[in-house]
Amino acid sequence: MAKNLKKRSVFENKSQKTQNLQFRLYFNKKYQSKDLHKWFESKVRIKKNFKILDVGCGTGKQSVYFKKKINNSGQLFSFDKSIKSIIQLKKKIGSRNSKIFSADMNEIEKINKKFFESEKFDLISSVYSIYYAKRPLKIIKFLLSKLNKNGKLLLLVPIRPNKITQIAEKFYKVPSKVTESLVIFKKIINYFAKQKYNIRTKYFRSKIRVTNVEDVIKFYKSTTFFKKRYEKKVSEFIKKKFKTKSFIFKKDSCLIILKNEN
Ligand SMILES: C[S@@+](CC[C@H](N)C(=O)[O-])C[C@H]1O[C@@H](n2cnc3c(N)ncnc32)[C@H](O)[C@@H]1O
Repeated sequence: MAKNLKKRSVFENKSQKTQNLQFRLYFNKKYQSKDLHKWFESKVRIKKNFKILDVGCGTGKQSVYFKKKINNSGQLFSFDKSIKSIIQLKKKIGSRNSKIFSADMNEIEKINKKFFESEKFDLISSVYSIYYAKRPLKIIKFLLSKLNKNGKLLLLVPIRPNKITQIAEKFYKVPSKVTESLVIFKKIINYFAKQKYNIRTKYFRSKIRVTNVEDVIKFYKSTTFFKKRYEKKVSEFIKKKFKTKSFIFKKDSCLIILKNEN
């Protein structure tokens, strides 16, 4: 009985994560001044015969776009830790010239052995997910070894904690992965620059102007740093801040492009 309950709560937790991701995508689309995903798409060049790997694909914001671009010519491999998101993505794009599976990127070598040992990729993409890795640099190095000549690894990462993070930080310690993303990625960028690797960075800023305070609170509840224990205090603070009928914060991202010239 207790075992069953435990199983159910793990499943609910996974399902909740997918719902949170869906809400964050909806929230950004509704309130952002510029569309981050459209911007990202404008920076990626995809040929029909490309072999593409999407790391931390979620419900497929990028994978669906990649699949449309390669149509039935290239090949797409996408994976995410969340089984629920993978089920949703499979429904969206099917299995024709694509392998969609659930896996933990911290085990990238094992994943490689199981799913794509004999493959090399023209494009490897990881949007808003590589910073969840325990050791991002180790994974990035491995992914670079999986690129074809002139293949590119694209990493889109948040680079500054937003206003909601700062509010939460007034009440408790937000994980350093969220608050120190810029520091972590500056180190990674410097590392590859020192190795004389072909590395480029592009920056994106959009303003989020929210007109409904309940959506700001829902957004806080959908973040990875949400803590039920502080929900009331953080929500009250947000409501107090929301005097001017809108809540504005900036969303800063950096696209890191690593090209394999060997
Ligand atoms: C912010 S979402 C981004 C998803 C998608 N790329 C997008 O832009 O919509 C981050 C994703 O990383 C996934 N993730 C987190 N840790 C992971 C891990 N260790 N291995 C694989 N995926 C992971 C989460 O499940 C989630 O789907």
